[in-house]
Amino acid sequence: MGTMRHFRVWRGDDTGGSLEDFQVEVNEGEVVLDVIHRLQATQTPDLAVRWNCKAGKCGSCSMEINGKPRLGCMTRMSTFGDSETVTVTPLRTFPVIRDLVTNVNFNYQKARELPAFAPPKGVEPGEYRMQQVDVERSQEFRKCIECYLCQNVCHVVRDHEENKKAFSGPRFFIRAAELDMHPLDARGDRKELAQAEQGLGYCNITKCCTEVCPEHIKITDNAIIPMKERVVDRRYDPVTWLGRKIFRR
Ligand code: SF4
Ligand code: F3S
Ligand code: FES
Repeated sequence: MGTMRHFRVWRGDDTGGSLEDFQVEVNEGEVVLDVIHRLQATQTPDLAVRWNCKAGKCGSCSMEINGKPRLGCMTRMSTFGDSETVTVTPLRTFPVIRDLVTNVNFNYQKARELPAFAPPKGVEPGEYRMQQVDVERSQEFRKCIECYLCQNVCHVVRDHEENKKAFSGPRFFIRAAELDMHPLDARGDRKELAQAEQGLGYCNITKCCTEVCPEHIKITDNAIIPMKERVVDRRYDPVTWLGRKIFRR
């Protein structure tokens, strides 16, 4: 027999909602998602929550737990004090569908806007060759599980609906950086593209995205800052500037 704990869960839909209080059993070793499932099984069969793998790999169970963006399936109840109330709310940056489920379409839209990998002319599938060292350079970025916690926490779009059109967000900056490191990508300069079309300039390196990433991807240090630095280099470096002047004439 576990102990009884105080849970507060946001219930509602796109027209509004409020926090509801529950006393619920919690057993040793359980995670927040287990407790939500127990609520569904015992008190609130219609509580909506999105989840799939329960192993921190599908990125579906993103939610805010005591105000912090987290994966419900990877947040142990032992993280909280025995008498602490655990408050669970939906991601704030995306529109609520119902209860803990939000519409994350914004992210799919941004994914579609990002130009896909394009090999150089004349290189056919099956002929791609790259060095292991190039494979490894961007390996970190391919660990992304698309949980969108980084997108949710970034202050550029959190509570700033008006910035969503121009800003792709950290998840898509790592994708741009990954393609930028790809030796066969011939789509053009990914750094310039990130600056011109993904809103890289809106990011002021607060690093909140890196802090919440469950895959511990160093989004800011390894993707955003190197892309920003190289864009700045190219724009203000006097030698590059002179070179451009001469060769563009
Ligand atoms: Fe989630 Fe990290 Fe990918 Fe962002 S970069 S979507 S936080 S796994
Ligand atoms: Fe946002 Fe991450 Fe930049 S949280 S402001 S994208 S460092
Ligand atoms: Fe898949 Fe949590 S259920 S990451």
